[in-house]
Amino acid sequence: ADEGMWLPFLIGRNYEDMKKHGLKLTQEQIYSINNSSLKDAVISFGGFCTGEIISNQGLILTNHHCGYDAIAGASTPEQNYLDNGFWAKNFKEEIAVKGLTATFMIRMEDVSQQVLKELNSKMTAEERAKKIKEVTDILVKDAVAGTKYEAFVRDFYDGNEFYLFVKETFKDIRLVGTPPQSAGKFGGDTDNWEWPRHTADFSMFRVYAGSDNKPADFSDSNVPLKPKHSLPISLKGVKQGDYAMVMGFPGRTNRYLTSYGVDQAIAIEQPKIVDIRAKKLEIMKKYMDKDVAVRLHYSSKYAQVANYWKYFIGQTKQLKANKVADKKRKVEEEFAKFSAGKEEYAGVVSDIENAFKATNDIVYIKIYQSEFVRQVDINSMVYLYKLAIDAKNAGNDQRFNGLMDAAKASAEEIYAERSMDIELETLGEVLKMYIRDVPMNQQVGITKSIGVDGVDAFIARVKSSSVFASKERYEEFMKNFDAAKLAQDPLFILLKDLDNAYQAAVGQDAIKSAGEKLARANRLFVKGVREMQPNKKFYPNANSTMRLTYGNVLAYDPRDGVHYDFFTTLDGVMQKEDPTNPEFVVDPRIKELWEKKDYGQYGSNGKLAVNFLSNNDITGGNSGSPVINGNGELIGTAFDGNWEAMSGDIYFEPNIQRTISLDIRYTLWLVDKCYGATNLVNEMKLVK
Ligand code: ARG
Repeated sequence: ADEGMWLPFLIGRNYEDMKKHGLKLTQEQIYSINNSSLKDAVISFGGFCTGEIISNQGLILTNHHCGYDAIAGASTPEQNYLDNGFWAKNFKEEIAVKGLTATFMIRMEDVSQQVLKELNSKMTAEERAKKIKEVTDILVKDAVAGTKYEAFVRDFYDGNEFYLFVKETFKDIRLVGTPPQSAGKFGGDTDNWEWPRHTADFSMFRVYAGSDNKPADFSDSNVPLKPKHSLPISLKGVKQGDYAMVMGFPGRTNRYLTSYGVDQAIAIEQPKIVDIRAKKLEIMKKYMDKDVAVRLHYSSKYAQVANYWKYFIGQTKQLKANKVADKKRKVEEEFAKFSAGKEEYAGVVSDIENAFKATNDIVYIKIYQSEFVRQVDINSMVYLYKLAIDAKNAGNDQRFNGLMDAAKASAEEIYAERSMDIELETLGEVLKMYIRDVPMNQQVGITKSIGVDGVDAFIARVKSSSVFASKERYEEFMKNFDAAKLAQDPLFILLKDLDNAYQAAVGQDAIKSAGEKLARANRLFVKGVREMQPNKKFYPNANSTMRLTYGNVLAYDPRDGVHYDFFTTLDGVMQKEDPTNPEFVVDPRIKELWEKKDYGQYGSNGKLAVNFLSNNDITGGNSGSPVINGNGELIGTAFDGNWEAMSGDIYFEPNIQRTISLDIRYTLWLVDKCYGATNLVNEMKLVK
């Protein structure tokens, strides 16, 4: 139990164990392709989070931090939903969110045999990839023939198995309700990734469909979805030992990573990501504190950067504290014994070791490609123009047009929402870090010629002459798009140089061959590890496909002499209250009801439960997932993991790893008693 992100369609393998943990449902009630089942109430929310359907009118419950971008995007200094909350009193008041989606899983299937029979061990990486694409394209086409569904095949266990997924994606999703962020993000970055926690991390949306109950683009004539299943809600509360399972879409874990990967992550990769993010946060904050409009425009970006800034601080710390590299070395030693004399596994671990050695030198340039080129917004926009021009020069007009559209869309957003002060200061400061960090023999063009001391002058030149440095100049330029002029633009040249440097570094023969060897060795390592323990149940790494994890409500002891209880209450919110610190402000409406102990049907023994712990196995992407009891009723919404187990994406720690969830009774108390959105509670099916 506890450890394991299981595939719902293979849950028969765990079913007896689930019953031992307290499950009362049949397998068919969890996953069925013929009848409605729990899986039909679980959605991939926008592709980055999870949500659950909690009414027969398509009402979605997810996390506040999952709805954050949509909430901030709908907010202005005058109608500030992020700070003040928002509650639609009726369908008409719900706010459409451009680009947001909700995806249901229709069915899943193991297609490993069909794919594997076309592959053999003599294929090159390229031949293998080509063959896999060929076979899976056909499987996908067959799977959706005659329907409006979409399908995809993913590899599992590092390329040892292949499963097919058929899905249905709705594209008209509307914001229904959110508490003020003082509640929804209570504790801020200070409490993020930590227990004890007191956060009302929820928001509500609704799925809209065409009159045929099928996906449709946004339209006023769309109607609330009639879902196949919606979760009944338990008001009975949770106690230690209760059955708890979580269904959702975990994004990525790396549980089969070797000690060599752990060592590289700790020594080189993670500290650098943390440094870069700290700089970005410092600059954003400086400007956000000065201006509400700027703050609203950057809140979501800031939260995203901060979330994984703290994540990597914690992961490095706990990989060390939990001695994860040692644990991995033990597995590698056992693997060495098991594989001795087996030809198939010859050289597997040394290939992995060598691949990491060979790539140590390019870790920084890879980090800057993602943290700087792709994730500093002004850069990512100019980079799209760079790719577009590349496509044009290569004579690929279709790709050119597609990239130009993407670049223009990105520009539109940037000039509407971004502050050039923040963008250009970030550009300059992170560029200085790049010049210091990336080995000189990998740098090309501008960064190499200007050096750290030349960055300020370079940024001044960008400000005075780049077409991208102001909205007016950009719009003027776009009236008469001219590739030759672009080729002279300092920012365009910078992005071209950064990308050339990156492509040259990762394209070196030695690096490419290390990468191919690593992929092959990882595949064989995972295969071998599974063969080595034939009686152990294995689960594949998270890859944004639907998973189920089951276990129990459970406290933990973070360190010697310290015990953490499994739940927190509203009293704890008030203990943390600090009106002088925006992270710990308590909304007066909450305070008022707390003073009166007015908890209605949501309290018990004069207390209101707020957050609770269970030993489920989740990760990023699971955010917003339903926590479901043994009867298939909703008891909470998962929203975080705990500090002591921040190494958990690489090695699960059964004694200290916990899922942090928002108790559904706190959610409903806020919706109903605090904010008076009784229209929403009336839609739900409450079980007392
Ligand atoms: N750590 C959470 C996760 O990745 C996100 C929590 C958001 N809250 C916050 N204070 N930033 O799932």
